[in-house]
Amino acid sequence: MTADAACPSLILGIESSCDETAAAVVEHGRRVRSNVIASQHKLHEEYGGVVPEIASRAHAERILPVIRRAVLQAGVALDDIEAVAVGNRPGLIGSLLVGVSAGKALAWALGVPIIGVDHVHAHLHAGVLDAPPAEFPALGLVVSGGHTSMYRCESAVSLTRLGSTIDDAVGEAFDKVATILGLPYPGGPSLDRLAQEPGADDRAHTFPISRLSRDSLDFSFSGLKTAVLYAVRGVPARGGVFERDAADLTDSQRRDIAAGFQRAAIEAVMLKLARAADRGQYSTLLVGGGVTANSLLRTRVRTFADERGLALRLPAIEYCLDNAAMIAGLGYELLLAGRRDDLTLTATPTTAC
Ligand code: KG4
Ligand code: ZN
Repeated sequence: MTADAACPSLILGIESSCDETAAAVVEHGRRVRSNVIASQHKLHEEYGGVVPEIASRAHAERILPVIRRAVLQAGVALDDIEAVAVGNRPGLIGSLLVGVSAGKALAWALGVPIIGVDHVHAHLHAGVLDAPPAEFPALGLVVSGGHTSMYRCESAVSLTRLGSTIDDAVGEAFDKVATILGLPYPGGPSLDRLAQEPGADDRAHTFPISRLSRDSLDFSFSGLKTAVLYAVRGVPARGGVFERDAADLTDSQRRDIAAGFQRAAIEAVMLKLARAADRGQYSTLLVGGGVTANSLLRTRVRTFADERGLALRLPAIEYCLDNAAMIAGLGYELLLAGRRDDLTLTATPTTAC
């Protein structure tokens, strides 16, 4: 879409779907003026995962200071904000409600439009932040802790889902395998670092690369996760008792398992991406979600896009993980397309498509 003088251009984005409280100010959908993220990792670390009740309480405490900081860092006044975009789906309902309530209150107080944004779709917008716009049709891949899906995108706001995971999301598999290996929380980045250590042999184990049926564009990671569990702890005997645990592994064995898992997981993603690209005409490859921060995936999608002649929109690291700049950016595109919400906007735990 091209800029439109009648469309609000300075958008405040708000994100609170999981364990990051975030606010950002974005101009014309792509120019990021500020991007503030307050992570709750420390609060959830001892539980090894996000505790919904703790998350929503922490959002409630942080949302206003985070919004204030985003406006300040953008070098604007609150009165300059022309619209509010808020991630209202999918996510933890109690967490989403904090952002949605704050967004509606601000939009009402400022007398500006409010627009609800699908968090998963917003991940696909992250690659055009502080970058050139995308050309459509585009093939979209979202790889995060909660979602693993591919889309045909006719525009930034018109998406058809081609496939998605039938069990774990790829980020979830990284996190669970990291737990099996006894790595620090959050697991995905720890596992990525371990797999990159010198000497890590990604061929020491042959872990399964899920294909599903020949035509399938869906993903599956639970078999891979179980294969890693058995490699680490042995096949359980009757009664579910394992032979050993992660503490029995040498550093070198742990590195090899991490590298072997990472190779199989990323290979499974690339395999489905290739299948999808074979079946349609696309100008651009849009990639987004926390796992886009993964070193191996970044290398693989760059090569893939080059080989296929696709323009790649791979987010800068700060826009891979959950952030509000992507929410503001996609909010702008939605407003440009004539969409508006009102104060009946509410939070929804599931994605729109
Ligand atoms: O997009 P995101 O911040 O949250 C969701 O929308 O789910 O993604 C978080 C996920 C987590 O599962 C995290 O472990 C994973 O992204 N992640 C990574 C890396 N950095 C974050 N996975 C693999 N390698 C990484 N470097
Ligand atoms: Zn996300």
